[in-house]
Amino acid sequence: MARDQETVLDDYAFLVSETDEKGIVRFANDDFCQVAEYNVDELIGQPHSMVRHQDMPKAAFKSLWDTVQKGEIWTGYVKNATKSGGYYWVFATVYPFTSCDGSKGYLSCRRKASRDEIDAHTKLYKEWKEKE
Ligand SMILES: Cc1cc2nc3c(=O)[nH]c(=O)nc-3n(C[C@H](O)[C@H](O)[C@H](O)COP(=O)(O)O)c2cc1C
Repeated sequence: MARDQETVLDDYAFLVSETDEKGIVRFANDDFCQVAEYNVDELIGQPHSMVRHQDMPKAAFKSLWDTVQKGEIWTGYVKNATKSGGYYWVFATVYPFTSCDGSKGYLSCRRKASRDEIDAHTKLYKEWKEKE
């Protein structure tokens, strides 16, 4: 995939990843690895910001962390970078959870964003970025 090229998700793609309390990746499923263009071993142990795209405004991630740290579910649109310098959009739902051993973590489940949703959030995030 060439730089700045969009990867359009399959209609039924379901990208899942899990982090610890600090956002370090503990798990990523096959769909996530395939779209992000990483082997799972390259992701585990890394900060989730390794797939951050430069167009994403800080306020989006502040909202994500403020919400899940309160124990609530966050939903939102995210533009992520691929390993080769392309990008893809998702609609993400991030769940806070506590495992039976008492350790806390976060689970993100992502599906394809529609073209209208992508267009609207491209515009919105550009406005947010200009205010940074
Ligand atoms: C479960 C979970 C999934 C996340 N998924 C992504 C993601 O797909 N892309 C992304 O850029 N940040 C994701 N984040 C947010 C990152 O942890 C981080 O806050 C963000 O990339 C901004 O990085 P920065 O704070 O270093 O600027 C996720 C966080 C959690 C808790």
